Amino acid sequence: MIEKQVDQLVSKMTLEEKVGQMTQISVEALLKTTNGVVNEPHIIDPEKLATCIKKYKVGSILNIGGDAQTRENWQQLIRAIQKMALEERLKIPVLYGIDAIRGNNYTLNTVLFPQQIAQAASFNTSMIKKVSEISAYETRASFIPWTFSPVLDLGRQPVWPRIWETFGEDPFLAAELGKATVEGFQGDNQVTDKYHVAACLKHYMGYSMPLSGHDRTPAWIPERELREYFLPQFATAVKNGAKTVMVNSGEINGVPVHANKHILTEILKGELQFSGFAVSDWQDIQYLYQRHHVAKDNKEAVMIAINAGIDMSMVPTDYTFCEDLIALAKEGKVPMSRIDDAVKRILKVKYEVDLFNNPTGNAADYPEVNSLAHNKVNYDAASECITLLKNTNGILPLAVGKKILVCGPAANSMRVLNGGWSRNWQGTNSNETEKDKNTILEAIQKTFGAANVDYSEGATFTEATTISESVAKAEKSDVIVLCIGENSYTETPGNIGDLNISAPQIELAKALAATGKPIVFVLTEGRPRVISAIEPLSAAVLHTYLLGNEGGNVVADVLAGKINPSGKLPYTYPRTANSLHNYYHKHTETLKFDEWAGFNPQWEFGYGLSYTSFAYSNLKLSTDQLADNSKITVTVDVANTGKIAGKEAALLFVSDKVASITPEVKRLRAFDKVELQPGQSKTITFTIDKEQLSFINNDLKRVTEPGDFSLSIGGLTADFKYVSAIN
Ligand code: IFM
Repeated sequence: MIEKQVDQLVSKMTLEEKVGQMTQISVEALLKTTNGVVNEPHIIDPEKLATCIKKYKVGSILNIGGDAQTRENWQQLIRAIQKMALEERLKIPVLYGIDAIRGNNYTLNTVLFPQQIAQAASFNTSMIKKVSEISAYETRASFIPWTFSPVLDLGRQPVWPRIWETFGEDPFLAAELGKATVEGFQGDNQVTDKYHVAACLKHYMGYSMPLSGHDRTPAWIPERELREYFLPQFATAVKNGAKTVMVNSGEINGVPVHANKHILTEILKGELQFSGFAVSDWQDIQYLYQRHHVAKDNKEAVMIAINAGIDMSMVPTDYTFCEDLIALAKEGKVPMSRIDDAVKRILKVKYEVDLFNNPTGNAADYPEVNSLAHNKVNYDAASECITLLKNTNGILPLAVGKKILVCGPAANSMRVLNGGWSRNWQGTNSNETEKDKNTILEAIQKTFGAANVDYSEGATFTEATTISESVAKAEKSDVIVLCIGENSYTETPGNIGDLNISAPQIELAKALAATGKPIVFVLTEGRPRVISAIEPLSAAVLHTYLLGNEGGNVVADVLAGKINPSGKLPYTYPRTANSLHNYYHKHTETLKFDEWAGFNPQWEFGYGLSYTSFAYSNLKLSTDQLADNSKITVTVDVANTGKIAGKEAALLFVSDKVASITPEVKRLRAFDKVELQPGQSKTITFTIDKEQLSFINNDLKRVTEPGDFSLSIGGLTADFKYVSAIN
């Protein structure tokens, strides 16, 4: 049905109209200004809009022209754009896109959920689906039907400043959570209605591994590793109906991905049979000549990118793309078949999100935005993400009546708790926009009673401020809650030269430790900043990642024992800045040649403590011989052996004993999370098939090699064999 509508529409379109559909302009280029200054971020200049819509026939707009605005402003802005688009000959609505990651973060008074890295620590797919459903609802309430999320890059290079936007280092975890996110955004039937949005998988692919750790610098990833680690999560999401992808801004093996036909056309549209469209990242076609030097000018850059398989260009502020592509088509340098293919893909998505019937929306349809129910889901989600990494002698939860000193630069800031893409690109600049929410300090004061809680910042992220005051106050306290980490950032402004936590924070921790008072570290950070210089000084460590707007309440409630933490690390937490491993390490990384050799991170992937204890028993395999087309059913009992209720994520790792490509010591192949009352036990069932044991061999083929394997869950192990009639 949609295919027919698309074909009919395309058959009526001129070249200029087609090129317009392939163009995405940033709203900044359309706003009304006085003396070059934007009047208000939602007030459009009708002349600029006419140039965009009437002259260049532009089909997509993105972004926001400043700080977050009200829902009403958004609705007004989108109505103005669609009104003009629908006055055009073919009445094709504009597809508006925005980085509404983990909530509608560009509209005031919406729910800001935990960032993706925190969500990953929950190991809870149904919770992530729910979070994404609400994010979609609140985004659509601003009449925006397309979100640039989820990020499916792997968080494997801890220096890289976008780790917090990922689901961590494991491709299987990223695939499962990416699938849940796409289901939540797009709805179960994969056709978006007025409550769902089209997902955009980013940044296809291999963006997250720049050798330098700095954003958008070269990555060197052999095709085998690309297919083994970086492609599978995109493949799963595409298979589950994800409607769009955004392309990696960087270069891999010397080829910018925006110019890479093999990756964009042969793999994505060929092998994965992706039927949606690929949008460039910000200005990245232009950058093919301005930054990458693989094109001599904009026109050549457009030719290379569109022929490589980019369908829509995030331009974002001028119309040279349109002019160059029209000229290239007339000269036969970009075939009309390629342009038609791109336009059909884009129009298909416009039909699928129901834009033709519902180009704006009805403001009254969204009574639940920022409702108590949505905020409750946020609190529950953040409760499942927070990760307890250390709890010496059960110091946590804190006993009632303790005198608490709260210190550190992360203690009293919503900006720090939320991280980037929060009300504006680099994170909101004040606590004002989140004034009905609690910082960690405010929540601790409310939970423990203001009379029991003192505060002294001690240091900012960049300088020591009131360390002697903090020390004096520490002397009068029973326990110190030291809130450290990093300030918010997004993309290149987050580049760093040193993974160690900043020096003033180390100085503060050392000064406080000298008082002899126990210190609870609360780590609020988007990547694992090395803390080995001060970790021994802590009695307990809580990792919050970037927990979002309920983060303060959740930290306080964990400290008070109202929440039993159940998060587990979605990445390897390094011990030293120059000894970086992933848990998918190889056997050679475990050999102890010298003091520094060996796999010895601060904390391993999957590590996380609870206030209760869990015991695993009765690991059983239905057979120890896996044949082709069969499965092994794995069961294991998990019991809550402590005194309070808790949740436990059971992680099933598999080790391939011998393989033609050096096998990892272990790989995550399945996981499940259960809730257990004290004394309760549940049986968890997993199935293992041949596909789950596969890897990409040297011929770039996905294979499962016959031989011996072992699996482990919760410290229990079992061996089995894969015996093949085929191999
Ligand atoms: O979606 C983002 C992307 O992640 C980074 N560059 C800009 C895009 C649009 O805002």
